[in-house]
Amino acid sequence: MTGQVEGKVALVTGGASGIGAAVAELLAREGASVVVTDIDELRGPEVVARINKNGGQATFLQQDVTSEPRWAEIVAEVGRQHGRLDILVSNAGIGIAVPSITEMSLADWRRQTAINLDGVFLSVKHSLPLMRTAGGGSIVMMSSLAGLRGAAGLSGYCATKGGVRLFAKAIAMECASFGDGIRVNSVHPGIIDTPIWGKIPTEAHGQGQNAPIDPEERAKMATPLGRAGQADEIAAGVLYLASDASRYVTGTELVIDGGMFAGGVARKG
Ligand code: NAI
Repeated sequence: MTGQVEGKVALVTGGASGIGAAVAELLAREGASVVVTDIDELRGPEVVARINKNGGQATFLQQDVTSEPRWAEIVAEVGRQHGRLDILVSNAGIGIAVPSITEMSLADWRRQTAINLDGVFLSVKHSLPLMRTAGGGSIVMMSSLAGLRGAAGLSGYCATKGGVRLFAKAIAMECASFGDGIRVNSVHPGIIDTPIWGKIPTEAHGQGQNAPIDPEERAKMATPLGRAGQADEIAAGVLYLASDASRYVTGTELVIDGGMFAGGVARKG
């Protein structure tokens, strides 16, 4: 049986951890050659080693998604290694929480925007030419439930993720108008149990909450399905958008959130 993305070449940013790692592993399991990039030089190679040990095909390239010169090098390297790029998953991101927007430093606002929004812009700017020479493909941008509705304490994060949501739609329209065969969609996870939740307080340089946030605890209260999501449940949605199963899907948003966006929690018992 052939995999759902057999023979395709995929680039996954932020692939060293959480959702990105799960996406890289699933795309590889379904037959893609995966280039994993991340700023984290320790965990990235571990993910790639796991994929290759399990019979997949993956390589790691260290990358800070905010660096434009590095983006040019990354795409050139993908071209050298594979001669094509079919799937781009712009996933790298951080979250910075503050009790009030009045306490957010401009430096933190800019750092979060640089990674979550500039990084996605650069990924598309530099990947599109190689994807166009491949004759088509799929771009998946990792937004958030926080890109669809507001969350107190996360206004800067919401601004970046709302930006990603509409950027995806606009690039989808550009690609459709070029007739280049490239589809573009955004994914909107709810509360997913990944290391990001433990990083939120430190990202805020101590201005945010001083205890790590427990996603399971938070999801139990806020999510109709009563639990946090797992990274592989997001990866399954990315695989659908990356594969030809979604060949008529572009400019849309895939919400994977245990029902949070649909309405309030109304569980019996
Ligand atoms: P994570 O913290 O486990 O993984 C994020 C990865 O991005 C890390 O490996 C980190 O090293 C990398 N990264 C951070 N800054 C980078 C930079 N400048 N250049 C390259 N890589 C960088 O987080 P998680 O949860 O896997 O998040 C992945 C994406 O999903 C993010 O965009 C996040 O905003 C989004 N998301 C996560 C949700 C959750 O509940 N976990 C909910 C909604 C969206």
